[in-house]
Amino acid sequence: MLTIALAKGRTAKDSIALLEQAGIRFNNFHEESRKLIFYDQTKQVKMLFVKAVDVPTYVEQGAADLGIVGKDNILESNGHFYELLDLKFGQCKMVVAGLKEKPLRTTSHLTIASKYPVIAEKYFLEKDIQIETIKLNGSVELAPLIGLSDVIVDIVETGRTLRENGLVIFDEIEAISTRLIVNKASFALKHDLMTPFINQIKTVLEVKQ
Ligand code: PRP
Repeated sequence: MLTIALAKGRTAKDSIALLEQAGIRFNNFHEESRKLIFYDQTKQVKMLFVKAVDVPTYVEQGAADLGIVGKDNILESNGHFYELLDLKFGQCKMVVAGLKEKPLRTTSHLTIASKYPVIAEKYFLEKDIQIETIKLNGSVELAPLIGLSDVIVDIVETGRTLRENGLVIFDEIEAISTRLIVNKASFALKHDLMTPFINQIKTVLEVKQ
């Protein structure tokens, strides 16, 4: 059996739809369910329905053979696994943003609010800018509005949250989309099960293009 960790939240519907198109159906699945484990019709695939931020951990630790999760959480995890496929949904951007009237200073110490401290620190370290990072778990756009931080590092999809809070993008760090990741040992040991699974998904992606 293959175990796949699937991220709850914004991309869950698209992930389930992609698996369905690849012939893997979880009959009793619905997003509001409080169940955490689902089996496909053939009982060949077990799905762990978990918080997006935890998907890389399940895959790195081998609790799941595969994972479907955003590149944002992959980068933030610094995890060791294979990133096999770009699934081309959940597309957004990781950006530095802040108040229009308070442009990004690159010469002095900055305070950054983010759900992604690892990504933020790497970005500013590469630019040789000293920062203090304040880790938040949501509504990050609030931080510059109330003087908690100078800028934020966050994902932008439609741009609506930034717009409605009077914030602008100062720089784009990385393009984000949903990826298929694979545990390194599983990739070797479960090759016979894994290969047809991955090929089915590849075929769906090719048809979509
Ligand atoms: C994400 C992100 C932004 C927003 C961007 O937050 O952190 O706040 O979506 O989307 P937009 O560009 O389409 O407005 P999410 O909605 O996941 O909730 P959170 O604030 O609780 O983290």
